[in-house]
Amino acid sequence: MTKQAAPTKSEAAPSKSSSRSLRGLELELTPGLARIAKEMAEALPEEGSSLDAITLLKQDHRKVEDLFEEYEGSENATEKGKIASKICLELRVHAKIEEELLYPPAHDEIDEDLVDEAIIEHAGAKDLIAQIEGMKPSERFYDAKVKVLSEYIKHHVKEEEKEMFPKLRSSDLDLKELGSQLLARKTELIQQLTSKT
Ligand SMILES: [Fe+2]
Ligand SMILES: [Fe+2]
Repeated sequence: MTKQAAPTKSEAAPSKSSSRSLRGLELELTPGLARIAKEMAEALPEEGSSLDAITLLKQDHRKVEDLFEEYEGSENATEKGKIASKICLELRVHAKIEEELLYPPAHDEIDEDLVDEAIIEHAGAKDLIAQIEGMKPSERFYDAKVKVLSEYIKHHVKEEEKEMFPKLRSSDLDLKELGSQLLARKTELIQQLTSKT
């Protein structure tokens, strides 16, 4: 599996990266979830690909948008359930790596209010994700919850890409270094899920 090379030292490295939690996603691992995690592991960028933080996170955003579109186009409840589970796991991993590695330095370096708002938006999204994960696709409100989640995420992604990321680009943060850390942590979280099967 892909493993990121040790990040080089940089003065602009995120200050709180070393104190991040090493715990995983605290999910009850089902065979379905493990299958999705395996697919995610296969889709990880190749070893040595030095994506900067913003490029990496934007790739995640596009992936989830595609999945929401796929969900909208599906008529079959089983299929919808699989797609929604993928969306939920992608979002959980994405939110976790942002909260551990991106938001702390962004809070310190670029804009406290913007980052605080993003953290609260994540909390709202995670609440909805947990509700969706606990439901069957045939249940009433399942579609509505996935739809509201997609609107919620669309709003959040717009704020990150239009407000937070441009500020990050013009900050002193080392986005290459941060990209390496994000990818390494994403890989670690996904591998934790696949290795329990
Ligand atoms: Fe976010
Ligand atoms: Fe994001």
